[in-house]
Amino acid sequence: MKIFAYGIRDDEKPSLKDWEAANPEIEVDYTQELLTPETAKLAAGADSAVVYQQLDYTRETLEALAAVGVTNLSLRNVGTDNIDFDAARELKFNISNVPVYSPNAIAEHSMIQLSRLLRRTKPMDEKVVRHDLRWAPTIGREMRMQTVGIIGTGHIGRVAINILKGFGAKVIAYDKYPNAELQAEGLYVDSLDELFAQADAISLYVPGVPENQHLINADSIAKMKDGVVLVNVARGNLMDLDAVIDGLNSGKIADFAMDVYENEVGLFNKDWEGKEFPDPKIADLIARDNVLVTPHIAFYTTKAVQEMVHQSFDAAVAFAKGETPAIAVKY
Ligand code: NAD
Ligand code: COI
Repeated sequence: MKIFAYGIRDDEKPSLKDWEAANPEIEVDYTQELLTPETAKLAAGADSAVVYQQLDYTRETLEALAAVGVTNLSLRNVGTDNIDFDAARELKFNISNVPVYSPNAIAEHSMIQLSRLLRRTKPMDEKVVRHDLRWAPTIGREMRMQTVGIIGTGHIGRVAINILKGFGAKVIAYDKYPNAELQAEGLYVDSLDELFAQADAISLYVPGVPENQHLINADSIAKMKDGVVLVNVARGNLMDLDAVIDGLNSGKIADFAMDVYENEVGLFNKDWEGKEFPDPKIADLIARDNVLVTPHIAFYTTKAVQEMVHQSFDAAVAFAKGETPAIAVKY
């Protein structure tokens, strides 16, 4: 049996090596190139292909892969929104993704950013680098004094709640489909408006599906407490960033951390050192003392990358054996 993987990054190679050592009977070959109509032929002779990319899996790409006999496709990430499912259905593709690889990775990052905002570590660190070792004016706030509003209590939101409990923060939460355990604990408020009115800090863990587009906008920000702290590690399109910038300018929003941006494709995971950002909004946000920008790295831990590689390769083998892995995408 042979698996061919596309877009393998250097940081994935140790996990790939582990997997190969545990599965010596499987032949593995890979390329750093992404799957395109042109590179599809590299998978010729393989039983399954493993991929991760933001490039679309178009009809042309899927047809090119099917033409070399590969119709098992295992994604190393969650998102399946870049697949032409009509074409995949017609070509009888088996597809899997990795819906849960390490919720802790993302939850931890969000709570680290919230803690950093509360303790003003960005201006404090900059002061220290300038050899200014005075205390003022970077006085911090304590987590246990905050009411933190969690929007979305799925895999990641629930880990964030546990971290917050450790800090002693008061947690309130909202989810369209409440979790029974959290409900029994009385953590839920009845509406987003209630969460907006009560929370000192708000962190989002909902998907960027069309109905959640700009969930955070001028109207919702107006309903929040003055001096609210916002954290978004979920998806860029959940926020109307212009409204957030207005909120920062007016002081309505005291601090903001973003790991995701609506226009991040082509911007994040690229080296812009010495070059001008194509997007002045990002340059403006990065320059602010009360804003933390990270380039979609909440997921980026050794454990998460290992899970993405191992789970996707396991699923690729299952498809090749004619089995349906638990993480097969139902479409
Ligand atoms: P999940 O599916 O387990 O949970 C999502 C929850 O959101 C569900 O409980 C759902 O009922 C709820 N929900 C959806 N729309 C809602 C709304 N409008 N109001 C209230 N609740 C709503 O997902 P997860 O694994 O916890 O991941 C959450 C999101 O985190 C993902 O969709 C993804 O966008 C993001 N994410 C980011 C990174 C990163 O590196 N920054 C990595 C992985 C995931
Ligand atoms: C996801 O898995 O949904 C992410 O946001 C992380 C991805 C960039 C690998």
